[in-house]
This record gives sequence, structure tokens and C-alpha cells, in this order.
Amino acid sequence: MLAVAILAAGKGTRMKSALPKVLQPLSGISLLERVLANCNQLEPQRRLVIVGHQATRVENALSHIHGLEFVLQDPQNGTGHAIQQIIPTLHDFQGELLVLNGDVPLLRSRTIERLVQAHRSNNSGVTFLTTRLSNPMGYGRVFANKQGFVEAIVEDKDCTEEQRTNTLTNSGIYCFDWKQLASVLPKLSTNNSQKEIYLTDTISLLKVAMHIEVNDPGEVLGINDRSQMAKCEEVLQQRLREHWMKEGVTFIDPSSCTLSENCIFGKDIVIEPQTHLRGNCQIADRCRIGPGTLLEDAELGTDVRIIYSVINGAKVGNNVVIGPYAHLRPKAVLQNNCRIGNFVEIKQSYVGEGSKVSHLSYIGDAELGKKVNVGAGTITANFDGTRKHLTVVGDYTKTGANSVLVAPIVLGSRVTVGAGSTLTKNVPDGSLALGRAKQLIKKGWSV
Ligand code: UD1
Ligand code: CA
Repeated sequence: MLAVAILAAGKGTRMKSALPKVLQPLSGISLLERVLANCNQLEPQRRLVIVGHQATRVENALSHIHGLEFVLQDPQNGTGHAIQQIIPTLHDFQGELLVLNGDVPLLRSRTIERLVQAHRSNNSGVTFLTTRLSNPMGYGRVFANKQGFVEAIVEDKDCTEEQRTNTLTNSGIYCFDWKQLASVLPKLSTNNSQKEIYLTDTISLLKVAMHIEVNDPGEVLGINDRSQMAKCEEVLQQRLREHWMKEGVTFIDPSSCTLSENCIFGKDIVIEPQTHLRGNCQIADRCRIGPGTLLEDAELGTDVRIIYSVINGAKVGNNVVIGPYAHLRPKAVLQNNCRIGNFVEIKQSYVGEGSKVSHLSYIGDAELGKKVNVGAGTITANFDGTRKHLTVVGDYTKTGANSVLVAPIVLGSRVTVGAGSTLTKNVPDGSLALGRAKQLIKKGWSV
């Protein structure tokens, strides 16, 4: 039987934030959600989250995850005190207790699996993860022999100058024999510089304590302040880019681009510098995105080309060219072979196959047919001050430069709209529509 307990009650003082540390986002997902996801593969029988500082807020943030047991730690007197709080909850539990620090988000599932397996095979009281850090400041130092048996963990603040030179650090990820741990937990004291009850003090009380060294220190980076947070973000981004490069995506300048976990790429895609993909993005084969582009929850067909643009919640067909400086907003749907040019904004609109909106336009709440040519500066006036209205434009219709289509309005197919027109009435198929003041000429005006 396996139970998991996640330490998430601390305030995270060093973050200097109104948001509890474990709710801080890393690539859009909170530290705590990441820690929970990391141990999913083990399918633990019980999942306990120890909450304290802003407990309700932390619980609410996890309300979408089923089967969690929240245990309150109030006040927060240290990591050992936190685990003492779960004794009643696990009073009849037998098996291993995996303890995860809520602020160590980058651990790989297979490393946790390795830890649990090693613990089961060496039959120890506790097995935990360590790593060697060139700068171990802030971490507990681990004193162990060559066989991997651990004598003690000494917290950074409690180390002598000599102890502090030890670079073997505690990662805060432990697999305990629960019965043994429960029997030593009441023996912990606050005899240390922070006057807290340390979980790390159980190490010297258990028979026996062993550690496993993690080769990639990036996996066990802990987050105490925003500088460590930035470091973790960097590690996470590097992992995501490496993954997709192995899958056939080219990055021209990888370190200048960021991705979210929920991006899916096809093959032979090129991501140009300064390009960022957030949320759920799906990018099909042979797209070329960037430079300088932001995509969020975007779906792109094959062979799409985008330069210096912002695409949010839009769906784009195959072979579409976008930008520079275009803005696609939620529910913009572009069919194959469209062209969206500079300074064009499209919101909640359908643009039919092969249509072009090339310059300086706003298209909102509109349905454009196929092969429509929207002239430079054409605007759909969709808002009457209270409500939004629909503009419908038929196939092969052309609007002249600086047209204003006042919605609700329907233009038929093969309509031509004269430049500078403001249209408020529907236009039948095949017509020319003009809605502008007649030009006056006054000869000899300035002689
Ligand atoms: C802890 C370890 C240290 C290790 C480091 C790894 C202890 C005493 N020290 O130090 O050896 O190198 O993690 O990252 O365990 N928390 C509670 N209740 C509390 C205090 C903390 O739930 O009363 C939670 C925090 O929310 C956090 C985790 O425990 O998620 C770790 O607490 P933190 O104060 O960051 O410990 P460190 O000083 O980093
Ligand atoms: Ca920490």
C-alpha cells in the first residue's frame, strides 16, 4: 500500500507574495498541481495534502482533482510538525508513505518510481532523494557513508562552517515505512535555530535511513524565492523544447521561445525566435511561426505561416498566411488559403476559404464566404452600444477601402462595395453598393 503526503502548509515567506507559494504558477500550472501530477503514475491508495497558510484557498484551487484528503496544520511549526498532523488520518494505514515537498515541482515520475522500488527492496525505515549541488545554500546537508546509509540531515541554518561545505543536499522527497515513522514522530523536538519541528530529524531515529542520489539536479530544485522560481521555469522550458526537438520541431533560437505543457506539434515545424505558445495549442505539419509571435489556445492547420502576430483562441486552416502584426481573437475561424495582413483584428468570425483581409481591418461577429476580398481599412461596426450584431458577406464579394459595414447587415455574393462607403442596408447578390457623399468640385477655389 502506498500513501502520498504533500507538504503544502507553509507560507512561503521568501516569495513575498499574497499568493501561497504552492499556488504560484510555473508555465501556467501551480507548483502543487505539478507535484500531484508527478506522483499520479504510482496510483497511490491515499493522497493527502497538508494545508495551513490560506488553507481554504489552497483547497479550492485543487477542487477539480478528486480523491484528495486535506489535513490541516495550524499553526505551521515545521515539516515534521506537518507530518505529525496526519497520524490520526493514517492510524490504520500500513505500507509506505511517500512525502513530497510542495515546492519541488520538477521531479520526474520515473524518479519517484525508482525511489519507491529502491525503498521496497532495501527494506529500510526511510529512503530519500539527494543531489550534489555546486551551490547548496539553503538546503539541508546529508551526511552519509559510501554504502548510502545516512546518519543525519543538518539544515543549512544549523550547520557548522565545516558541515556547510558538504554539497550533498536533501531534496525533500522521502519514502518512509509509515509504522516506523509514526513511532518516531512524537519524539521530535524544536531544538534548532528556527525553533521548528523538522521532518529531517526523523532520519537519525529510523532504522535505517538510505539515500539515492539524483543525477539531474534540475529535478529536485526547490522553490523558496522568485529567483529559484525563474530557475525552475528555465529547466521546465528547456525540457519541453528538447522534447519537441526530438519529435521533429526546429527552433531557430530555442532559449528565446517558451512553450506550455499542452502544446502538440506535428513534423517539420519551424519556430522562429521570440515566439511563445501558451495554453492548449495544436500545430500541424510544416507551419512556420514567428519571429515575435504569441499563440494561446490556437489550432493551426498545415503549412501556416505567421509573423509578428498574436493569436488567441482561434482556429486556422491549412496554408494560411498571417501577419505581420495581425491579432486573431477567440472564436476566429479561418478556412484554408486565407490571408490576414498587417494591422488586422479578427474576433469571433468565420472567414471562408481563400478570403483575404490584408490591411488595417476590424472583423468582429462576421461570416465571410469564400474568396472574399476585404479592402484596406474595412470595418465591421458590430456594436450598437448595447449589443453585438452579425455581418454576413457572400462569396466573391469585394469591399472597397475604408468601408464600414454597420451590423446587422447581409451583403450577398459577388457584391462590390465602393471605397469609403458606410453601409447600413442589406445588398443583393451581384450589386454595386455605394454609401458615401458625392464628390463636389468647385473650380477656381484658390487662384
Ligand atoms: C526543506 C528541508 C531541507 C531540504 C529542502 C528541499 C526540512 C526541515 N528541511 O527545507 O532539508 O533540503 O526542503 O527543498 O524539512 N511546510 C509545511 N508546514 C510547515 C513548514 C513547511 O507544510 O510548517 C511545507 C512548505 O509549504 C513547503 C515544504 O513544506 O512546501 C518545505 O518547506 P520549506 O520551509 O520550504 O523548507 P526548506 O527550508 O526548503
Ligand atoms: Ca523549500
